[in-house]
Amino acid sequence: MPGVFISFEGPEGAGKSTQTKLLQLALERAGYAVTLTREPGGTPLGDAVRNVVLLNLDLEVTPLAEFLLYSASRAQLVRDVITPALQAQHVVICDRYADSSLAYQGYGRGLNLAFLREVTWEATGGLRPHVTVLLDLEPSVGLSRASFRGAKDRLELADLAFHQRVRNGFLELASLEPERFLVVDAMLAEQVIHEQILSAVAGSLLGI
Ligand code: TYD
Repeated sequence: MPGVFISFEGPEGAGKSTQTKLLQLALERAGYAVTLTREPGGTPLGDAVRNVVLLNLDLEVTPLAEFLLYSASRAQLVRDVITPALQAQHVVICDRYADSSLAYQGYGRGLNLAFLREVTWEATGGLRPHVTVLLDLEPSVGLSRASFRGAKDRLELADLAFHQRVRNGFLELASLEPERFLVVDAMLAEQVIHEQILSAVAGSLLGI
């Protein structure tokens, strides 16, 4: 049996990194081999893209260039990390994946969704998550949570209307594919969220 691929999506400050780590620990305790990775990043190229597109705020980056950079990072991550881990029957947990491009660069920045889907298909070889956990959160709450983490990145600096479009985009993507998405209210307590995720993942994918 090939491995299981789980992505986490949602706005800044929704608690994705906490929840991905909690899921990793729980699955490892249950005996699964887990590969935890993130986008942009997860490979040397991906980390370079992260620095360029998110943190180098002096650089002008058009929405199309931004999307192509994220796609470059994704192509490398799929080939070098995700595919080999799935072949080794790992559970792969990815903190953001292609739905982030559709939500941020598509719904948020206004790029054509059909074009984004086509490029994403090429970049990923059509690899899609078995389950996508969407941690849904009101953008103003998320942004204020994220601001406690220090310097703002390029996306955190975008205005609230942008983040509202991103949130609505994620919710629309979830409604288009209800069998893939698990939508969780990110305002719930950390442990409650974790248990919801664990029971959905364990029940539908791992049979535990
Ligand atoms: P990151 O520092 O990982 O923080 P978090 O995931 O907790 O928000 O920031 C990643 C940022 O990159 C986030 O603002 C969303 C953005 N992003 C895109 O706009 N498009 C993409 O395809 C990806 C993967 C990320």
